[in-house]
Amino acid sequence: MIGLFDSGIGGLTVVKAIWEKLPNMPLVYFGDTARTPYGNKSAEVVSQYGVEAAEFLVSQGATVIVVACNTVSAVGMEAIKNKFPNLPIFEVITPAVNRIRNSSKSKRIGIIGTRTLVNSKIYSSLLADFEVFQQAAPLLVPLVEENWLKKPETKRIIKFYLSPLKRQQIDALVLACTHYPLLKSLIAPRIGRRVKIIDPADETAAVLADYLIKNNQADKSGDSHFYVSDLTPQFQNIAESWLKRKIKLEKVTV
Ligand code: DGL
Repeated sequence: MIGLFDSGIGGLTVVKAIWEKLPNMPLVYFGDTARTPYGNKSAEVVSQYGVEAAEFLVSQGATVIVVACNTVSAVGMEAIKNKFPNLPIFEVITPAVNRIRNSSKSKRIGIIGTRTLVNSKIYSSLLADFEVFQQAAPLLVPLVEENWLKKPETKRIIKFYLSPLKRQQIDALVLACTHYPLLKSLIAPRIGRRVKIIDPADETAAVLADYLIKNNQADKSGDSHFYVSDLTPQFQNIAESWLKRKIKLEKVTV
């Protein structure tokens, strides 16, 4: 069983990308809605939350973990790998970096993500030969969790966050928070048609599918399970409209 987690709804963008490749794959998902957002918290706290989420998924039968959160992928991998040294653990940043290497010609790229992701400077260090322009966009996470996916206020905030990047002549923009692909239709026209949008969820799903095929685990089928640490009003609606499937949601304490 593949286990994925995020601070809330964002990791469902990775679930969707996995199901686009492997529609029957059974998954167990944990959204830490009681403690969202992660992106304004310290690396220590984010790491601890990541370990606890992974422990919960393993207790539910996960044998492969996908860290479906850029913030935890940036600052929490060491702690999670130390806790589960024998488990295959995937994160969302390395696949995105590989994609950037193949798709940016100018080597000038933009990153939007949470404050903790931006402060980690992980993209600048993994892409030392690139010009990396970063912008923290923390307000986008609560807007997504509130289902404000089309509101004029959301459009204005996106415009505000993108304006410094628009001056930098970037040719690719990474949606370096798994919540942001839910706003892709608002982000793409505002950053401009010449800028390629990179969604790490797609790249991560491709890497995971390769791994599952190589390990003869890609043909599994069965029920998936969705858990949250608090039942928030919007989670079920957003999840079902994003995934285009009915889901059964359960509250758990981690
Ligand atoms: N979706 C997460 C990420 O990819 C976390 C967002 C948050 O909780 O601040 O970074």
